[in-house]
Amino acid sequence: MRTIKLGTSTLEVPVLAVGCMRINSLSKTEAERFVQTSLEAGANFFDHADIYGGGKCEEIFADAIHMNDEIREKIFLQSKCGIRQGQFDFSKEHILESVDKILQRLRTDYLDILLLHRPDALVEPDEVAEAFDKLESSGKVRHFGVSNQNPLQIQLLRKSVKQPIIANQLQLSITNANMISNGVNVNMVNDSSIHRDGSILDFCRLNDITIQPWSPFQYGFFEGVFLDNDKFPELNAQIDEIAAKYDVSNTTIAIAWLLRHPANMQPVTGTTNVERLLDCIKASEIRLTREEWYAIYRAAGNILP
Ligand SMILES: NC(=O)c1ccc[n+]([C@@H]2O[C@H](COP(=O)([O-])OP(=O)(O)OC[C@H]3O[C@@H](n4cnc5c(N)ncnc54)[C@H](OP(=O)(O)O)[C@@H]3O)[C@@H](O)[C@H]2O)c1
Repeated sequence: MRTIKLGTSTLEVPVLAVGCMRINSLSKTEAERFVQTSLEAGANFFDHADIYGGGKCEEIFADAIHMNDEIREKIFLQSKCGIRQGQFDFSKEHILESVDKILQRLRTDYLDILLLHRPDALVEPDEVAEAFDKLESSGKVRHFGVSNQNPLQIQLLRKSVKQPIIANQLQLSITNANMISNGVNVNMVNDSSIHRDGSILDFCRLNDITIQPWSPFQYGFFEGVFLDNDKFPELNAQIDEIAAKYDVSNTTIAIAWLLRHPANMQPVTGTTNVERLLDCIKASEIRLTREEWYAIYRAAGNILP
């Protein structure tokens, strides 16, 4: 699979991350097949979070991959912390405790990347910095990033944190593309011009922070998949036409649309179906034309002023 450099780091990683949020829906045998298929296809970057399946997803993954030192060196492991029942928590104590538990569940000594999952209203950047320093010096975490953060929240962290923020995981799909459409509709009197993210797309490009789009097939907030969905007839017709041209599935084209953006994003897939995963991976070989990219953008209802 095609690779990209993650943020300002020297990490050369697959252009797709395999999301593990839903792997607790799989049996042991299915999980083993899923992980094995990923590895054979070169998809060796796995995205976790301490809350997925209440911790079960990390354990299921470690079992499925038969974690040992040899396997560990062949994969990239990313996990997240900071979400707790009824609150978000970026306190030093919580970050350190969470990472210890993540490492235990994944049966490893280190994470390649730790992301702070959702902005904590009570964040104290100095505390985050102390936690990151400790995690880095102990070798438990090699690189750091964030998720769902806007430019000023990242800048605030950077005032104290000395490690580079190399990734920002954000919700982005063809049907949830406000971060793109607000840049196309600057200063217009329409809903697309509304900045919900403080120009995070341009900020990440300017600062070499890799955007990791999450839920690349969902519309709304986990409302469902837009592909083959009657709610999106124009979009599906457009995607199907382009899929036929390339002789690939609509799944492949939906990922190829994200990969065509010049920000060098690393989408995080969520499927637990091996055929669909392979279809996602196929997208790394396709480069949509400018005309195709805009046709899909418009067919989803995204407007040009
Ligand atoms: N940072 C954050 O705040 C955050 C939030 C949410 C998720 N994430 C990460 O992002 C990853 C992806 O999220 P997601 O699972 O919501 O993403 P997704 O890839 O948009 O959705 C996957 C779900 O859609 C289903 N699906 C149905 N038809 C599909 C098709 N044609 N192509 C692909 N999927 C289809 C899949 O079912 P099958 O399994 O049957 O294919 C699966 O249940 C997660 O695993 C997690 O790692 C991060």
